[in-house]
Amino acid sequence: MTASSPTLTARFPDDFLWGAATSAYQVEGSPLADGAGPSNWHRFSHTPGKVRDGNTGDVACDHYRRYPEDVGIMRDLGLTAYRFSLSWSRLLPEGRGVANPRGLDFYSRLIDLLLASGIQPLITLYHWDLPAALDDLGGWTNPDCVHWFADYAALAFRAFGDRVSSWATLNEPWVVVDAGYVHGVHPPGLESLPEAAAASHHLLCAHGAAVSRYRDFGRGRIGLVVNLEPKHPASEKPEDRAATARAEAYMNRQFLDPVLKGRCPDELTAVFGEAWKDGCLRDLDLIRQPIDFLGINYYTRSVVRNDPAAIPTQSRAVFQVGSEHTETGWEVYPDGLYEILCWVRERYGEIPLYVTENGAALADPAPDPGGVVEDPRRVEYYRRHLEAAHRAIGKGVDLRGYFAWSLLDNFEWQHGYSKRFGIVQVDFTTQRRTLKRSALFYREVIRTRGAALSAGAGRA
Ligand code: BGC
Repeated sequence: MTASSPTLTARFPDDFLWGAATSAYQVEGSPLADGAGPSNWHRFSHTPGKVRDGNTGDVACDHYRRYPEDVGIMRDLGLTAYRFSLSWSRLLPEGRGVANPRGLDFYSRLIDLLLASGIQPLITLYHWDLPAALDDLGGWTNPDCVHWFADYAALAFRAFGDRVSSWATLNEPWVVVDAGYVHGVHPPGLESLPEAAAASHHLLCAHGAAVSRYRDFGRGRIGLVVNLEPKHPASEKPEDRAATARAEAYMNRQFLDPVLKGRCPDELTAVFGEAWKDGCLRDLDLIRQPIDFLGINYYTRSVVRNDPAAIPTQSRAVFQVGSEHTETGWEVYPDGLYEILCWVRERYGEIPLYVTENGAALADPAPDPGGVVEDPRRVEYYRRHLEAAHRAIGKGVDLRGYFAWSLLDNFEWQHGYSKRFGIVQVDFTTQRRTLKRSALFYREVIRTRGAALSAGAGRA
């Protein structure tokens, strides 16, 4: 291959991180093992009618016991980073107070094995599983949750900070608020704007308090992970444009404006109404701690129409007939990743970025006789999104890494095991792992630092 080969044009930077992501409740199983306390998700999934087919995270991918095999898979794929979350109630069964040494030991062993395998850990402190004991005290609506979280974070920094240099405080606080407090499809299952507004504020403060605690240790990087979607108006009508601005403020700016600009989007007054009162004007010094990076989870875009009846943004997404959609009903829209990365740079300035999640739920066939699961649509999904990420780097976006969601098929929250996001298939009866074609494709992309994107690798 010559230097002018077109396959060389898609090279990612030498130090670009190539990762995959998971979260504790979605993969670990053994939620009460070795002294762990129950989480809100344990309780929610055991409540009839809350999760599809009555599925729970009791076993999930059994990663708690099979993590050596899973790290072996990561190593085989050539991953250089692994993003996972800690189960707060494994470390602090009551959410605060006395730590559980056996919970600490599990993550310690996982971290050591990752490091010995040449894989950098990126730890998310909160990926939605709140200790049930704290949920009983009001969870994120209780202002005390701010220091409960900061104390838990400090425990994790002390235990693992000697070996782990990349930390994320919260995963997708927007989903915590929207799914848990506005639409009630995640715990605590509320549909209450005042409680949603309180939770939003306390999540922001908890993020800031944990960042501030981290500075006492000060050896690595700490940031926040948000899910972002370009919001496009369904028409040029003023009401659709205004609806788009509300939807965009609610999802994309509710957390980023306070953290990175020290102010609150004006549109949130219309979204939360009376419940917003003085909005997030309080505690901005705590919230606006400098962060070292921003993690962006990207799945889709939305095309927005005004709809006065729709809570809370008085807007709704319009289904795009003719576009490809995944099993979660999300439009496949790779240009949106490019757009959102450029938007973040434009609006918030130079801050190192990571795509901390990107992937697709698709129905997969059984493994073929060669022992591979053929998932050509997922291969194309990754190819096109990685091309979009590469284009953004070409535009000057400081993108430092990419994490596929997810390493493994896993417990997809209220959808149970019905949606498969893995690049590795999990047979939930036998716990057998089988690589999908998308995993092999990703391995090639990593090996060639992106050249395989344009080389046709993985195409059927
Ligand atoms: C979450 C994951 C989830 C994925 C797919 C993200 O919102 O961080 O936990 O499984 O999207 O829905």
